[in-house]
Amino acid sequence: MSSFLQLQANDYEQDNSSKILPTNVEFESTFEVEATKSVENDKVEGIFLTWEDLWVTVSNGNNGRKPILEGLKGYAKPGQLLAIMGPSGCGKSTLLDALAGRLGSKTKQTGKILINGRKQALAYGTSAYVTEDDTILNTLTVREAVYYSAQLQLPDSMSKLEKQERADFIIKETGLQDSINTRIGGWKSKGISGGQKRRVSICIEILTHPRLLFLDEPTSGLDSAASYHVMSRISGLNKKDGIQMTIIASIHQPSNEIFRLFHNLCLLSSGKTVYFGPVSAADKFFSSNGFPCPSLQSPSDHFVKTINNDFEQDPEKGLSGGLSTEEAIHILVKSYDSSQISHQVQKELYQIKKRVLDTMEKKRHADFLTQCLILTRRSFVNMYREAGYYWLRLLIYGALALSLGTMFFHIGSSSESIQPRGSLLVFVVTFLTFITVCGFPSFVEDMKVFERERLNGHYGVTAFTIGNTLSAIPFLLLMSLIPGTLVYYLVGLHQGHEQFVYFISMLFISVFLVEGLMMIVASMVPNFLMGIIIGTGILGVMMLDGGFYRLPSDIPKPFWKYPLHYISLHKYAYQGLFKNEFQGLIFTSNQVIISGEVILKNLWQMEMNYSKWVDFTILVGMALVYRIMFLIIIKSFEKVKPIVAAINCPQEIFRFTKVTRSSEID
Ligand SMILES: Nc1ncnc2c1ncn2[C@@H]1O[C@H](COP(=O)(O)OP(=O)(O)OP(=O)(O)O)[C@@H](O)[C@H]1O
Ligand SMILES: [Mg+2]
Repeated sequence: MSSFLQLQANDYEQDNSSKILPTNVEFESTFEVEATKSVENDKVEGIFLTWEDLWVTVSNGNNGRKPILEGLKGYAKPGQLLAIMGPSGCGKSTLLDALAGRLGSKTKQTGKILINGRKQALAYGTSAYVTEDDTILNTLTVREAVYYSAQLQLPDSMSKLEKQERADFIIKETGLQDSINTRIGGWKSKGISGGQKRRVSICIEILTHPRLLFLDEPTSGLDSAASYHVMSRISGLNKKDGIQMTIIASIHQPSNEIFRLFHNLCLLSSGKTVYFGPVSAADKFFSSNGFPCPSLQSPSDHFVKTINNDFEQDPEKGLSGGLSTEEAIHILVKSYDSSQISHQVQKELYQIKKRVLDTMEKKRHADFLTQCLILTRRSFVNMYREAGYYWLRLLIYGALALSLGTMFFHIGSSSESIQPRGSLLVFVVTFLTFITVCGFPSFVEDMKVFERERLNGHYGVTAFTIGNTLSAIPFLLLMSLIPGTLVYYLVGLHQGHEQFVYFISMLFISVFLVEGLMMIVASMVPNFLMGIIIGTGILGVMMLDGGFYRLPSDIPKPFWKYPLHYISLHKYAYQGLFKNEFQGLIFTSNQVIISGEVILKNLWQMEMNYSKWVDFTILVGMALVYRIMFLIIIKSFEKVKPIVAAINCPQEIFRFTKVTRSSEID
């Protein structure tokens, strides 16, 4: 590095606009030497990530497309820490997203991103990414969050104890040991602090020592000492277990100590490269272009201050030479484009492509059964502790069951009890299923955590679906059993063990089914307000079309009867409950005896050619179909996303038309 630093000021000459630009002086940088050395070893362990002419654009209404990243190039190497810096909104997160293969569907990307010299998909388990926002299950303690994650991610070749030891070690390394038993907490209840939450997110992702690690603002919310310790531990991971990690981190305000931990620096301003190269040469680059770092100011602050064009510069304290920030950025971008450092980066990219490198391997995990078990346990703990998931609903159901029980108390067997019995059954199942929508916000939170963990490859969709389904069963059973029993015996519905078991089972399967339906809604509409509106809308239509509010023979045939009436869960729930209640009962009116069967057939127009158990079985089948549909939708999204991305990101072909390359405006 020293030879690089020995670049003399006279290596640069001033142009006619008093801007200082570098000449084409040949120099030998350390990274050139490094490159030559490593080409000689023909096989290199670790991940080399390179990107060239990387453009990312978003739609700008009628004005074509707006660039967010403009023709970036760079690389990240094993055993090194690359820092991405720049003012807020300069494109740091976008660059990380693009490199990690996680850009949103509305953005378009062009250029070449290569992993170990090849085009390879990154998402789902090949890398770890700590995003800007921390999505962790709020109900867990720090210890639980990290332990569960260790058991999910670390391979079964490690014993449970070894996994716990690894988790304890990482917790300690990130300074979380004092808050180990504190709950994470969220918007409802205060738990650990924002900075501690950030560290838990980092902990979870570095547990497996991933070979490629992306960190978006890992130090946000941390004091300078904590920031330094966290960053030094992360960079220290490189030396652990002989694994050479490739780490790319965006960072806002690194202290001098942290700054010294970085190997390379990528400095962006409005999506353009102001500097990419060794950290130690950045200071020289700035001073050579007329922006020397004032003594007593940290270089990183100086760089970001020089290129921050979000605020008007105070003319008194403005940049040297009375330049505006726009002009300063322009000078630096142009100077960098034609500098030796930029040429050297190009050379390095070429050298990396020439190497014989491993293809990227997926992480090794705990096996499928262990994952199902851990996810079931974790999800159960979360449901148990999160009052909004089931407990509040259970309370409301209980209160309502008491109200129903007292209102319909001892209903009797006169003909006057026929209509109230029917109304009661319809109300119970309709209300029970309708209120299921209230669990939607909690499920959406679960889905966010699942999405993050899934993208980072902690486990698969099937394990998540199984875990969520199994953990919910005890709560759903409670919710059917307690209010169901209260209503059943207070009202005095059809006496008999079989009838009671059927009644409870029907309530259970109806709620289970609606939960599955809401999972499908959540997989397509991850916004909880929209999800609740859509979910209640679907349930409202199903309820209406169930054959009670409008008798089956009166339902209009196109659409409402065929097919909607037949796919409405309420049709089978009403039929099953009515058959269960009325079959075998006799009602008396003015000494006329009416059998339950006659009522079912003539009054409620029930389909009597099959048993109530067939209705129940149809609902079981529907419940399974809904869960399978959820699985298929998530898996299809995963399959479709890379295809959409590939359509949006034609490699090497520059497809968008109306982009103004601001670096070309002189
Ligand atoms: N999908 C999008 N649609 C429109 N503009 C977008 C989109 N994504 C990013 N941008 C814009 O691109 C710019 C870069 O955003 P990005 O999140 O990468 O900035 P950043 O450097 O990470 O900022 P911060 O430091 O505040 O996190 C911003 O001006 C942002 O408004
Ligand atoms: Mg950001």
